Amino acid sequence: VTALFAGPAFAEYPERPITVVVPFAAGGPTDTVTRLVAESMSKDLGQQVVVENAGGAGGTLGAGKVAQATPDGYTLLLHHIGMATSASLYRKLAYDPLNAFDYVGLVTDVPMILVAKPTFEPTDLKGVVDYVKANADKVNYANAGIGSASHLCGMLFMSAIKTKLTAVPYKGTGPALTDLMGGQVDVMCDQSTNVTNQIKEKKIKAYGTTTKTRIPALPDVPTGAEAGLPGFEVGIWHGLYAPKGTPKAAIDKLVPALQKALKDPVVVERFASLGTVPSSDADATPAALEAKLKSEIARWKPIIEAAGEYAD
Ligand code: MLT
Repeated sequence: VTALFAGPAFAEYPERPITVVVPFAAGGPTDTVTRLVAESMSKDLGQQVVVENAGGAGGTLGAGKVAQATPDGYTLLLHHIGMATSASLYRKLAYDPLNAFDYVGLVTDVPMILVAKPTFEPTDLKGVVDYVKANADKVNYANAGIGSASHLCGMLFMSAIKTKLTAVPYKGTGPALTDLMGGQVDVMCDQSTNVTNQIKEKKIKAYGTTTKTRIPALPDVPTGAEAGLPGFEVGIWHGLYAPKGTPKAAIDKLVPALQKALKDPVVVERFASLGTVPSSDADATPAALEAKLKSEIARWKPIIEAAGEYAD
């Protein structure tokens, strides 16, 4: 019956490779999560799921690109909490986050860590706060542009210590991490999926996590609350989207393929080694992602407005 109503084109969707756009540069946390999930989904769908990086403007360029793409099931977007925060950070977006996409499901919720270049003097988070307050005009912090997770975490940090630092924007925290390790930039708040190994290898310093309990993969890194910065909490949830109007027959193939990928032992193990866990079957659904996006747009709007100068 599906073939009859959906037309022959969808009898055996997908018939050709699928592109998943990552709205940040290659080598960063979003890219890492997406490549692991895409690789696993390819097995279930019987077609290559190819990752395309489209960075810029804190993820809004890549999101806009997918919002305008042909809704045929062959262009998807893997984006994170930035889809929600950008709605309040940008006065004019090329897309309406609540009307430009169809939803496949939630993918993972990633913790963040405040990290610094290896030569950064402070030895703990309190020391960082004191140093940053005393040297605000000299300390610069890296992010992936307004609307990125690293921007959001930076905003929360600066708001918490009432000190504004100079932001150095990158197309993703992959390239930003390279500069942090080289000392070209001083501090960054980034996702465990990007910085866990560099912290373990002592290529960068870690001061506190944005979680209520310590990250199992990083047992020696205190939580923000433990380290003297209560309320420094944020989880970077990720979702898989399609352009609005994507045939239901395609979505109905993508949802189980996503759920299967999130239970793939390779994905589960790699996520764990990078400090995160895959979303459950209940969360890897269109309804759960839609509900999350709607509630998060509402939640962050007043926080961003209250952050004012720290949000730009
Ligand atoms: C961010 O929002 O900071 C991005 O996740 C960075 C990235 O994925 O490169």
